Amino acid sequence: MSEASETDSPAATARPDPRAREARIDLGAIRANTAALRELVAPARVMVVVKAGAYGHGAVPVARAALEGGADELGVADIAEALELRSAGITAPVLAWLHAGGLDAAFASAVAAGVELGVSSLAQLEAVARAAEAGAGGPAVVHLKIDTGLSRNGLSPAQAPSVVARARELESAGLVRVRGIFSHLSNTSHDDDDAQLAVLLEQIAAAGAAGLCPEVRHLAASEAAITRPDLRLDMVRLGIAVYGLPPSPAIDVARLGLRPAMELRGAIAAIRRVPVGAGVSYGFTHRTARATHLALVPLGYADGLPRAASGRAEVAIGGERFPIVGRIAMDQCVVEIGDAPVAVGDSVVLWGDPATGAPSAEQWALDAGTIGYEIVTRVGPRVPRVPVG
Ligand SMILES: Cc1ncc(COP(=O)(O)O)c(C=O)c1O
Repeated sequence: MSEASETDSPAATARPDPRAREARIDLGAIRANTAALRELVAPARVMVVVKAGAYGHGAVPVARAALEGGADELGVADIAEALELRSAGITAPVLAWLHAGGLDAAFASAVAAGVELGVSSLAQLEAVARAAEAGAGGPAVVHLKIDTGLSRNGLSPAQAPSVVARARELESAGLVRVRGIFSHLSNTSHDDDDAQLAVLLEQIAAAGAAGLCPEVRHLAASEAAITRPDLRLDMVRLGIAVYGLPPSPAIDVARLGLRPAMELRGAIAAIRRVPVGAGVSYGFTHRTARATHLALVPLGYADGLPRAASGRAEVAIGGERFPIVGRIAMDQCVVEIGDAPVAVGDSVVLWGDPATGAPSAEQWALDAGTIGYEIVTRVGPRVPRVPVG
């Protein structure tokens, strides 16, 4: 673009008009990542975690792709998320583990739909049994959750014996089948993970002594599944790694053969030429250091761009990186493009696969002081998820 042009490039009208905003979801990457992880953790079973709309990627298409890639089971937090999968015709085992309020109604729908339930209290176990008794579909399938140290949900080691004893009675009565026993790690340190494993194994032994023999013991999510073979037990629950992002910055996902499944894109809405010293966006946190061109990108924090990454994050246009300057606003942000040959309507990639030259969601997380999980999960509702591959 020439230094003289003060307005939008004339090339704008001649170019195709990509969507203003879209998150391309590479279902081929989901399939391939699942297959690679499955091979890595074999012979452990693989549960792919598709809660929170598959970490912002779209629950139903991701669940299908993960199953095609070899996932044995699916995991979600809420029963409503599990029922969404069932309504879409997905028949694979689905476990839902976070329950609040209105237990009887929720458990009745879950049991009727064959959704397996994580049980974290005696009250939940009794509600599951009532749901099974009221329905005609045989025993409800449950996984007992043990709080091994995270202090969130799960049975404390003190509560576990009485719940185990009651579960045994309900098994004998044909109302409940305890298929699994599980916990979740804090990912604090090797020693902390070992301590959590020890608590879980103690509870599994105690359950066995009380006559319960759950066939699936599970503890590890992505980080431990990748780094701690000794914590894989019978099944791992994989979330972030399936989406091609690292569970911690120390893990090189590309070396494991994983690639990011989400590419967040937009189309440049305007380009303007500005003189040296021009203020950019709210608060004028940036003033141009030279006469330059600024490109307006129609994505802002309502679309999931963290405002905290203002002035730090970059985008890719035509495979080249350019900085976001000034504050990220609700609907838009500004990119300094200098004299690069960029036109209105050109595609801009906010994050995607670094192998294509795009910044990664992980890099955005570092720029915003957060984690990649939050970056992809927070992509806003007005950004269509467009499946590719
Ligand atoms: C209980 C449970 N298991 C597994 C996962 C998947 O974790 P990750 O995305 O780190 O693989 C989560 C996600 O937070 C979880 O809550």
